[in-house]
Amino acid sequence: MKPKEILVFGASGQLGRHLLRKLARNNFKVTAVTRNIHQKGYILKSQANAGWIDIVEIEKFDYEKLNNIFENKNICINLVGILNEKHRNSFDNIHYLFPKTLAELSKKNNLDQFIHVSALGIEDAIDSKYASSKIKGENAIKDILERYIILKPSLIYSVDDKFTTMLMSMMKILPIFPIYYEGKTVFYPIHVSDMCEIIENIIIKNLKKISIECIGPEKITFKEILKKLLSSLEVKRLLIPTPLLIAKGFASIFETTMKKPLLTKDQLTLLKYDNSPSGNYKTNLDLHLNSSLKIFHEEVSKYSYMWKDGGEFSKPKVNKS
Ligand SMILES: NC(=O)c1ccc[n+]([C@@H]2O[C@H](COP(=O)([O-])OP(=O)(O)OC[C@H]3O[C@@H](n4cnc5c(N)ncnc54)[C@H](OP(=O)(O)O)[C@@H]3O)[C@@H](O)[C@H]2O)c1
Repeated sequence: MKPKEILVFGASGQLGRHLLRKLARNNFKVTAVTRNIHQKGYILKSQANAGWIDIVEIEKFDYEKLNNIFENKNICINLVGILNEKHRNSFDNIHYLFPKTLAELSKKNNLDQFIHVSALGIEDAIDSKYASSKIKGENAIKDILERYIILKPSLIYSVDDKFTTMLMSMMKILPIFPIYYEGKTVFYPIHVSDMCEIIENIIIKNLKKISIECIGPEKITFKEILKKLLSSLEVKRLLIPTPLLIAKGFASIFETTMKKPLLTKDQLTLLKYDNSPSGNYKTNLDLHLNSSLKIFHEEVSKYSYMWKDGGEFSKPKVNKS
């Protein structure tokens, strides 16, 4: 039987790289689309055996080129997302106009499934530009086609993420650590491999016309996440509740001085809202899309040693008391 042909946008990111390997192992033929083949070609090429992966460089809004690569494809997966805006890379362009274009092309080319990754806990966050753009994207997709699957994950973590790895890098150098909203924001962290299993099962089960909230097995607050990371690193840091005004000041400085800001004002706004299921949609647990789910501290401990003194040679500290 001819293998299913899958188009993946945002394939060089955390979720994309893990997903490419899973899809290729399952005999799906993948076309990975990137903005910059010179920069990302090597990462992409090494995720699958030759013959199972094609790499295409396309500027996001080049409609003609996009239309061409949709021909003869069965499934389109959109993993493109940003955490901060820069020039034409606005939330509106990336989270609304781009997925809208992909949905239109999926419909025009009669694809079996259009799988789009949005985010969890954004319904109430109307004062966050990130959240409203993601919601706008979801609504546009639902208006355009019926063969959509919208995934709404909580925090996705792994050694390739930009969250646990960034926090551990900061914990290594900072003696104190700021927390916002007293660290009470709730998350349901899900490991990247569990997200990939969800997407694999959606394809195998040929699901359609559904939004799914994707969560890990534990409900953890931001403060608890920090404590788990500190415990994994075996270091002690003071967690200092930071007034919002000061936090916004830091965020403004980061936004104006850094290419990839550590924190933005919009992220601060988003942190006000719990990252938990809305109850409006089924979850991956309701739909039995995972055989088992990974536990946050167990997985983090598999890569946190890289941030410890001594790296791979670090030994667990012995409590002498
Ligand atoms: N990570 C999380 O905790 C989390 C939580 C909830 C939702 N999500 C959503 O899940 C999806 C995948 O997440 P991820 O963690 O795999 O994201 P990621 O690591 O940041 O990867 C996103 C990919 O999108 C592509 N991209 C295209 N235009 C971009 C632009 N203007 N700026 C930056 N990247 C651009 C990039 O690939 P090329 O450079 O090859 O084009 C990049 O590798 C995203 O939609 C994200 O919003 C993630």
